[in-house]
Amino acid sequence: MNTLGEDAKNHGEAVGLSVDKITIHGGKPLVGRIELKGAKNLVTKAMVAALLGETPSVLKDVPNISDVRIVRGLLEVHGVTVTEGEEEGELILDPSNVEVAHFAAIDAHAGSSRIPILFCGPLLHRLGEAFIPDLGGCRIGDRPIDFHLDVLRTFGAVVEKLPSGIRMSAPNGLHGAKVELPYPSVGATEQVLLTAVRAEGITELKGAAIEPEIMDLINILQKMGATISVDTDRVIRIEGVKQLRGYTHRSLFDRNEAASWAAAALATEGDITVGGARQAEMLTFLNVFRKVGGAFDILEDGIRFYHPGGDLNPVIIETGVHPGFMTDWQQPLVVALTKAKGVSIVHETVYEQRFGFVDALVDMGATIQIHKECLGGHACRFGQRNFNHSAVITGPTQLHGADVEVPDLRGGFSHLVAALSAEGTSTVSNVGIIARGYENFISKLQILGADFVLED
Ligand code: EPU
Repeated sequence: MNTLGEDAKNHGEAVGLSVDKITIHGGKPLVGRIELKGAKNLVTKAMVAALLGETPSVLKDVPNISDVRIVRGLLEVHGVTVTEGEEEGELILDPSNVEVAHFAAIDAHAGSSRIPILFCGPLLHRLGEAFIPDLGGCRIGDRPIDFHLDVLRTFGAVVEKLPSGIRMSAPNGLHGAKVELPYPSVGATEQVLLTAVRAEGITELKGAAIEPEIMDLINILQKMGATISVDTDRVIRIEGVKQLRGYTHRSLFDRNEAASWAAAALATEGDITVGGARQAEMLTFLNVFRKVGGAFDILEDGIRFYHPGGDLNPVIIETGVHPGFMTDWQQPLVVALTKAKGVSIVHETVYEQRFGFVDALVDMGATIQIHKECLGGHACRFGQRNFNHSAVITGPTQLHGADVEVPDLRGGFSHLVAALSAEGTSTVSNVGIIARGYENFISKLQILGADFVLED
């Protein structure tokens, strides 16, 4: 596996970001309007779905982030032609000549992404075999792929573990199955969808994740010719078909990015309008944002997030699967909570190690303790397992500048927010990691009036 620094460099370079560090002079409110594109966590899966069609697909609002570059590279090594459409952010994906790729080519393109595992179902349908290298992704826990492998085996895949990765084949084709997930995993639900749509017969999935990005993937698959019903209580039924066609689709907006900028507005006492953000997919976030003391206006074409003045309030948050509070929303909001008057608790129940980013906040003067116990209410599956997964944040504190290193995507954004809201100067390094999921974040900071200098 690459070092964090190498990862950061690769991610940054993939989207034309040549610097590694930003020096930020904090204490200035972020004010202005920025525009969102499609959700990282939908767009990358929608690109994989294009592999299932017999004709080209058109995906709109694709952000220029390095995770998209990785998936594009992986599609290309499998013979998919990917071209830019007329509209900015439009990709045309032509899978007419899908072919087996060499291990080395897949490995070289996979980088530190988790998406390759989702290629398996579609490639098994198209080619009868698939290979995935050692998987990366953000360093926020163990991130096993056992659910994925179990699901693929249930459909009839033969899984062979090799030193270089995992090879799969489907000597008897893939068949619809009854699947029950032990946890409503987003990726494993997507795995079932992308495999079941072309498997022979009916698939019933129990314990499915129902995040808006998954619903939008279902919209895409239905456009391609799939029959999928979403029932109550996390049950999804899929009737397999022999052939699917390409789709034309405008991606759901990136609600994780919207929440990040909302937290930045609050922490810097600013006023940010996030063009393209919608209320329906952010209800839970908006409730918490308001409880903390943030204000928002729902606009026709976006949401305005601002600090209305006065004190911020402490809150108790438990992250969870949709419709709960997303794990990807907590990190930048923790920065705002360092400014709230009193004790806040964040209980992380999705990933067991998602508080690596708080060390840097503590270096900047925050009072945050991390606990192994489930604090804040309910016991979760990490409670008895020695994982540092509850944070207690005591405020208000005025953060001060420090030199910090980005540990992962969302933690990295929270470091930017902390530095922007701190008194004095901070240097944030490994910023390339942030390019995995935040399109043009440097120009957005410029638009919002941040005071910073890019360093080599
Ligand atoms: N899990 C397993 N075994 C598996 C798969 C998952 O134990 O085979 C566990 C994970 O370790 C984790 C939990 O199940 O504890 C939930 O993981 P999930 O599968 O739902 O997450 P994912 O599909 O790997 C996606 C997003 C994450 C987001 C989560 C939760 C993508 C590419 N990633 O990950 O996004 O946090 O769902 O909503 O869609 C991010 O954007 O920064 C990010 C990490």
